[in-house]
Amino acid sequence: MTSRKPRPKARTAGPPRSPAVPACWRNEIECVLIGQRQIARRVAALAAQIQRDFTGRELVVVSLLNGTVMFLADLMRRISLPLRLDFIGVSSYGKGKTPGELIFTKELRLDVRGRDVLLVDDILDTGRTLTKVVAKLRALKPRRIKICVLLDKAARRVEPIEADYSGFDIPDSFVVGYGMDHAERYRNLPFVGVLKVSSEQ
Ligand code: IMP
Ligand code: MG
Repeated sequence: MTSRKPRPKARTAGPPRSPAVPACWRNEIECVLIGQRQIARRVAALAAQIQRDFTGRELVVVSLLNGTVMFLADLMRRISLPLRLDFIGVSSYGKGKTPGELIFTKELRLDVRGRDVLLVDDILDTGRTLTKVVAKLRALKPRRIKICVLLDKAARRVEPIEADYSGFDIPDSFVVGYGMDHAERYRNLPFVGVLKVSSEQ
């Protein structure tokens, strides 16, 4: 969101100290951008921050399908606040990495009126997705909406939107793993990796 409050500092991810790509992924993955241990540490820190900020409140976590699956699961189990969970399905009908028209594949079911919403996404890239989702949520009159993303590609932003909680600032490269895909593959990688150009068809 376009909040002026200083947000927890995101960590810059990447080599040279990143772990090696496991042999089974070496043909498709260029490098490990963020390893499992680094992810786990940062997710724990984000959860602690969220827990502090929302103490005494009951949260509605709204997560965007499908890329948040691993991040959400790891984040949520570290937040010990009363919360409810729902999902919004969004899909960009572009080809490959080219974004296309955004369509909603699943609508929110929970009532968020007057509630504290934590909106969770995998990557804040151009900001078009979260801008549309925030507008949709605002219409439902929540008390407040805070945005939490694992990765932030600030250099690619075209919309004036910022995350309140951001795991890592990353450069403008296409990443996969830890829930994130290319053509629906690679979501199962336990780390965030950069896709080889030869795997991008
Ligand atoms: P935005 O609308 O441009 O901010 O894009 C947000 C969505 O695009 C994210 O939720 C991701 O699903 C997808 N996306 C953006 N960059 C990447 C990437 O490097 N790898 C995988 N998905 C990405
Ligand atoms: Mg997404």
